[in-house]
Amino acid sequence: MDVRFLGHACFALSDGADTVLIDPFLTGNPKAAISADDVNATSILLSHGHGDHIGDTVSIAKRTGAPVTAIVELAGELGEEGVDVRDPNLGGTVKFDWGWVKLVPAWHTSTTPKGTVNTPAGLLINFYDKVVYHLGDTSLFSDMTLVGKRHPIDVALVPIGGHYTMDRLDAVDAADLIGAKTVIPCHYDTFPLIETDAQAFKSEVESSTRSDVVLLDPGQTHTA
Ligand code: NI
Ligand code: MN
Repeated sequence: MDVRFLGHACFALSDGADTVLIDPFLTGNPKAAISADDVNATSILLSHGHGDHIGDTVSIAKRTGAPVTAIVELAGELGEEGVDVRDPNLGGTVKFDWGWVKLVPAWHTSTTPKGTVNTPAGLLINFYDKVVYHLGDTSLFSDMTLVGKRHPIDVALVPIGGHYTMDRLDAVDAADLIGAKTVIPCHYDTFPLIETDAQAFKSEVESSTRSDVVLLDPGQTHTA
């Protein structure tokens, strides 16, 4: 499985045939690695409806025909815009040819740019038997332990930028709770307010937990 970082909290998981696109905020993202018109997707997953996550979802979904999985209130708004949606709630699992996605808790708030209030989620993804945990936007909370206990995590995608999410110091504890083989940080350095020292995060996680940290610049790929 290739995990390609596209900037901010946007990732594409691919195996060649299928591409799972997560939180495609590309237009207006100063660190976007690709334009919304060029990105590929066979499935789109959303952690929540803030503008820096819903991003270009509607235009990409309409161009590619990819179904969008998002928590029910957010899926409702997207469905009204003509997008093909899957609408689970927290704890729900949606199956696809490539595997499945389960919505798990995240501690955050969310209202879409159009005003729909929606509960944020983390995304637990099984992609051809590799397990990826995209934490979404969240603070540190102890129930993260349960996610890794139920499903051993290959790759955790962890926000570290602070202010709108946990910072790099809390994220070290999050990495410890999750116990992923590999941690890839995100949601930092996109804007001045969320600048942080990712190299320090890597050093601290690798000295105090079981996980390895892979730092990706937008556009770079990690193969898991
Ligand atoms: Ni958010
Ligand atoms: Mn965000």
